[in-house]
Order: sequence, then C-alpha cells, then structure tokens
Amino acid sequence: MDRASFFSLLLLSLLSSAVAYAVAPEETADDDVLIRQVVSSAGDDELLGAVHHFSSFKARFGKTYATQEEHDYRFEVFKANLRRAKTYQMLDPDAVHGVTKFSDLTPGEFRQKFLGLKRLRLPKDAQKAPMLPTNDLPDDFDWRDRGAVTPVKDQGSCGSCWSFSTTGALEGAHFLATGELVSLSEQQLVDCDHECDPEEQNACDAGCNGGLMTSAYEYTLKAGGLQREEDYPYTGKESTCKFDKSKIAASVANFSVVSLDEDQIAANLVKNGPLSIGINAVFMQTYIGGVSCPYICSKNLLDHGVLLVGYGAAGYSPIRFKNKPYWIIKNSWGASWGEDGYYKICRGRNICGMDSMVSTVASLN
Ligand SMILES: *[C@@H]1O[C@H](CO)[C@@H](O)[C@H](O)[C@H]1NC(C)=O
Repeated sequence: MDRASFFSLLLLSLLSSAVAYAVAPEETADDDVLIRQVVSSAGDDELLGAVHHFSSFKARFGKTYATQEEHDYRFEVFKANLRRAKTYQMLDPDAVHGVTKFSDLTPGEFRQKFLGLKRLRLPKDAQKAPMLPTNDLPDDFDWRDRGAVTPVKDQGSCGSCWSFSTTGALEGAHFLATGELVSLSEQQLVDCDHECDPEEQNACDAGCNGGLMTSAYEYTLKAGGLQREEDYPYTGKESTCKFDKSKIAASVANFSVVSLDEDQIAANLVKNGPLSIGINAVFMQTYIGGVSCPYICSKNLLDHGVLLVGYGAAGYSPIRFKNKPYWIIKNSWGASWGEDGYYKICRGRNICGMDSMVSTVASLN
C-alpha cells in the first residue's frame, strides 16, 4: 500500500468512527439525555423529536416568548441549531455537542450578544513577553487548584467578554503578587474604558459592543487600577463611569504579548498566572463537554475573549488519540454552560486561533 492510499484509509476510518460516535448514543461519555436524544432522533421522528426537545429546552432554561410568531420563529432557529449540533458532533468527535442555553439564537445573534472581541491594534505600552525556558514544565497544571481563579461569572446578553478575560488575568496576577484572591470589576471596564486603537480613533473599547484585553490593560494602567467586584458590581449594561480612585483593589504594573508558540504559552501561564486569549467561538454555541478538537476551525476569525487557566496531558477520548493534551479555558457564560463554565480545547496546533492573541499582565499590588 502506498502512503496516499494508507492515509485515505486512515481518514476514512477516522471519519466513520466519528459518524459512529455521533449516532451511537450508548458510546457517548456524557450522560446528558438531551444530546442522546438529539443524536438518536432521525427521519420521520425528527419533527416529533424537535418539538419534544424544544419543550424541554424551554422548561430547562426558563424560556418564554412574547408572541406566537416569535415562538414559531425561535422553534425554526432551534431546529437549525439541532442540525448544526449534529454536524459539529461529526466535525468535533472528542467533544459533546447538543442543546445549550444558546440553542434558540442564530449564529449572528449569538456573536453579537454573547461574544464581543474587537480586533484593535496593540496599545503603546504593550511589550513582548521574554522567551522563557520550557524544559521543566509540569505535565498537568491548573491555576484553579492553586487558588488563583475566581468562580465563573456571567456576562449576560452583552458583548463584554473582553472585560471578563481582563479581570481574570489581573485577578490571577494580583493573587501571585499578594497571595490574595480578589474578584475585580468588569463593570468599571464596561462603563469607563474607551481606550482606542492608537491609529484609528473610532475603533475603541465599547462596553457591550466589544473591546480588547490589551487595550483594557492599557486603560487600567492609565486609570490606576480596578475596583473590587462588590464595590462596582456587574449590571450587563453600559452606563456612566462611576470609578472611585480611592477604592482601587489591583493595579497593572505592565503587560505583554506572548509568542505564538504553545510551549511559550504554557511557560507564561505557569510563571505569570492565567492568560487572556482570543478564540474563534464557533464551536462553543453547541458545546456541552469534552475536549474540543474540530477538524476544521478558522484561525483568523477571533471573536471571543476568554481566560486560559491550565492544561492537561491526558484528555479522555473514546475514539481518537487516548492521550491528547488539552488546554483549560475559563469562559464567562455562567457555570451552567460547558463543563461547569469551562471549555477544554486540544493543545498543539493553534486550534480555533487560540495561540494568536495571548497576553499576560503583571500586578503592582
Ligand atoms: C512587570 O512587572 C513585574 C511586577 O512588578 C516585574 O517583576 C517585571 O519585571 C515587569 N516586567 C517588565 C518587562 O518590566
């Protein structure tokens, strides 16, 4: 057998096992009834199944719609998302995809309301992170076990992901500097940070309409710091700035952009604390659990800001590589999304662009 036919056979067997995984509910590691029903319903049962799934979806997530028209429209969107979840399951067999609280939103609505990463240029105070040694890195590492990560928060229906990624990184850096874990205010960033692209005055951090973590570090550096969460609580709506300088809880000493290399990313994570990253969130709308490792995911369409908190060496995978390493990502969609609010994504090949926009911050106090 020549190389080409060997590889096409290999690909064929991978694909057929991916399909088998998607249609054989007893093999899924996840015990979510909804996804099992989603993947096993087919053909004539499909409409009945969809009606049933939509009812349980509405009950589970407390969804109500103002008019019958709206209800019927949301049902159509829901059905399209069931089909999408099936496709994603085939494209991403190490993860489990299905019904989530976002299943009645079109991809456009989802992007507008629950993401919010802007592509602005780097602010003038951004540095390049120095190259770190990578030979002594632990196999598994998780800042949650070391007390550097606050509980999962919820950005609500506001494109403020960037502010949560920023507070998460500064919370970690502040913990490393002081030994104290303090939850910091996203609302201060949403209300007060209007930092702009250095070359384009109209491209700025804009509350629920999006922003960028490095420009939020720049704002924080100039403003003097961030208040505590409880002193400036989150509302999920942009309002006038109520920043009180006398109540600063953590300040930025400096911030840097980390190189694209995944070993450097790991080394910076271990040395400096949780890192802000940008990611293409397309597979996150239907994600329920497992290690996301899609065959196809654009590396250029970064639309979501999240927090890298750790990594693991041995991801459980029922069909593909048994010891696939993964990253652990803290999201800001509440603890009811994903794996208790977290996302796992495979390590080693810039999946969904996660290596492309990595930054680290150091805290003064
Ligand atoms: C950034 O700030 C930290 C904490 O004050 C300091 O240890 C580090 O040397 C600074 N890095 C640079 C490149 O200035």
